Amino acid sequence: VETVIVAIDGPSGTGKSSTSKAVAAKLGLSYLDTGAQYRAITWWMISNGVDVDDADAVANAAAKPDIVSGTDPARPTITVDGADAAGPIRTEEVTSKVSAVSAVPEVRALITELQRTIAKNAEGGIVVEGRDIGTTVLPDADLKIFLTASPEARAARRSGELKGVDVAATQQALIKRDAADSSRKTSPLAKADDAVEVDTTDLTLDQVIECVVTLVEEKR
Ligand code: C5P
Repeated sequence: VETVIVAIDGPSGTGKSSTSKAVAAKLGLSYLDTGAQYRAITWWMISNGVDVDDADAVANAAAKPDIVSGTDPARPTITVDGADAAGPIRTEEVTSKVSAVSAVPEVRALITELQRTIAKNAEGGIVVEGRDIGTTVLPDADLKIFLTASPEARAARRSGELKGVDVAATQQALIKRDAADSSRKTSPLAKADDAVEVDTTDLTLDQVIECVVTLVEEKR
């Protein structure tokens, strides 16, 4: 295939972002972090006083923010109404509220459309990471990967990223977010039937990258 579309899904803390960025950079592909888009719309809701637990209010406001993602894996960017959102979307407040916002069907429909347009226009191909890329957003992807890891490994990785946070609390928050993402009605976190599952618990990041690069090269 000339244009290769790679979908990488899985729960948080499995190394999805690091893996996806590195694979895209190595293979000269574009990169899209779809979690960042859901975080961006959540940040906008919070900043504009929308109650994220009010699904109707979220649905009614969903089309208002203009979310733009840069797809260079060496320098991924995200803006909301022209403002740099890279920092604000990583706060604990956004992280704790993103599952409620991303469960709203109107939000998913809009963001999914955005994702499909970006993927279609990516010259040479793209690595798209998220929760429902292989199942819903890009069901015809050339390669689908589903990353997993033990809850302990996932919490340890996240705590390592966020200096000084306690592992038990991180693990609780992760489990809660994954449960919400997996149990929502619209497009839950799930492994596509034709996805390759990679358990990263006992693998280094380099080993995971190597594994995915090899799988992509087999498709090219
Ligand atoms: O990947 P990240 O942890 O940044 O994702 C943040 C949240 O965005 C997830 O917990 C989930 O609620 C939502 N998300 C989603 N579908 C995707 C990607 C992320 O619902 N494809």
